[in-house]
Amino acid sequence: MKRLSLFSLACSLLLLAGCDSSGPDVETPPPAELSTWQTIQQQIFAKNCTDCHQAGTSFATQSGLVLTEDVAYEQLVDVPPRNGAARDDGLVRLSKEGLPGLYKSFLWEKVNAPNQEHYFTAHPQYGSMMPLGRPPLTNGELKLIEEWIRAGAPKDGIVIDHNVLADTSRFQAAAAFQPLTAPERGLALRLGPFDVAPNFEREFFYFEPSVSAEDLFIDRFEISMRPGSHHFILYTFGSDLPPSLDPTPHTYRDIRKPNGTLDPLTLAAMQHHVFFAGTQWPTMDFRFPPGVALRLPAGTGLDLNSHYVNRTEQTRQGEVHINLHTVPAEEVVQPAEILFLNNIEINLPPKQTTTLVKTYRFQREVNIFQLVSHAHQHMQEFRVYVDGGPRDGELVYVAYDWQHPPILQFDTPLTLAPGQGLRLEATYNNWTDKTLRFGLLSEDEMMILFGYYY
Ligand code: HEC
Repeated sequence: MKRLSLFSLACSLLLLAGCDSSGPDVETPPPAELSTWQTIQQQIFAKNCTDCHQAGTSFATQSGLVLTEDVAYEQLVDVPPRNGAARDDGLVRLSKEGLPGLYKSFLWEKVNAPNQEHYFTAHPQYGSMMPLGRPPLTNGELKLIEEWIRAGAPKDGIVIDHNVLADTSRFQAAAAFQPLTAPERGLALRLGPFDVAPNFEREFFYFEPSVSAEDLFIDRFEISMRPGSHHFILYTFGSDLPPSLDPTPHTYRDIRKPNGTLDPLTLAAMQHHVFFAGTQWPTMDFRFPPGVALRLPAGTGLDLNSHYVNRTEQTRQGEVHINLHTVPAEEVVQPAEILFLNNIEINLPPKQTTTLVKTYRFQREVNIFQLVSHAHQHMQEFRVYVDGGPRDGELVYVAYDWQHPPILQFDTPLTLAPGQGLRLEATYNNWTDKTLRFGLLSEDEMMILFGYYY
């Protein structure tokens, strides 16, 4: 097992549940029935957006965006945003690329309310969340837009059951931090409160040695954080951790010292981290599929990684509560396994962009319910496709940022039959004048896919 370094959850995709992007599966609607796009325009934009986003308003002039029926589609698809920071990040207002399109669509960034903590901490220049000054879109409306973008944002056809609109619940930003009560069975880990200096990004590790004297079987994670968190991750250490790097327990090991310099010992230990759980959301409650649990061997230590962003002039406080819920060993029907696909055949010639492709096939059926990629600073893109079977060629994971790859959780596990597998495609830009190979240092490269499966 190897380590992962810093990152956060970059998006909230709920994957795979019946999203047909291919032609034949998209129904042609009978005349009376609205296409998914028409539904979005008439049921969502006309009700929430067009009083501002219509020709002639100052809002439309400021944003450069008109969402009335006559022009909305053309105003969105593949149009560079008026917002300069989003444009510089390579976003378009609406991308038709399907799953990758979700990451590239500024529209989705602007409305995806559950992601707002990340939106404001990671992208302070992206402007307000939409609809401006109003409650967020309902969870049903967001689901419809999300699935439509995932299906390639077609102008025609129905790509998701429009009854999702019946879900009229809305994301509630936690006005205040909601402390967790300890789980009935399991572990309660608590971090802080700790200070985050004004105009500072504080990121540190905090080691809890030997969290349990017995094996634990974890079937649910709950995390709740004070506002301002960029990400929180739990790591274990690989057996390759040299004793010289053994972390001091119960101490804040900051990556950046107050004077801004990096701490080499903290960085060196990071090379031996193994991803265990994490979130970028201020609150998370992740339950494994029924009967599935992950074993945490007796005596395992957990390294808690918190990253807070404080853009105010005052010192703010961070705090993280983590509950690991456990089940008795005899209730575990299927142990969760850690997926670890590690391509060490890395050879990246100098001054070139190279794409490495590696396919892994499984001997037995696997049901994957979480994926996270890992690479170093030269990685530009990391894609994962299904290999073989009826879903051959389907893109199931994509990351564009080596520091912040999405931690993707699958509502409906991705089931692969024996003989089917995953194809990893990673693109690297080697701007140096040396060949880059597999290695642990940040100058070396990696191509790893982590996940959970049963
Ligand atoms: C009260 C007026 C108002 C409402 C309602 C409103 N917007 Fe906006 N919108 C703005 C303003 C002003 C901007 C530019 C400033 C900003 O981005 O924060 C903007 C910017 C945008 C942008 C970025 C455009 C670009 O190219 O930079 C998108 C996308 C957007 N709005 C979508 C929507 C959607 C979708 C809705 C409805 C769910 C909506 N807006 C509702 C006022 C509004």
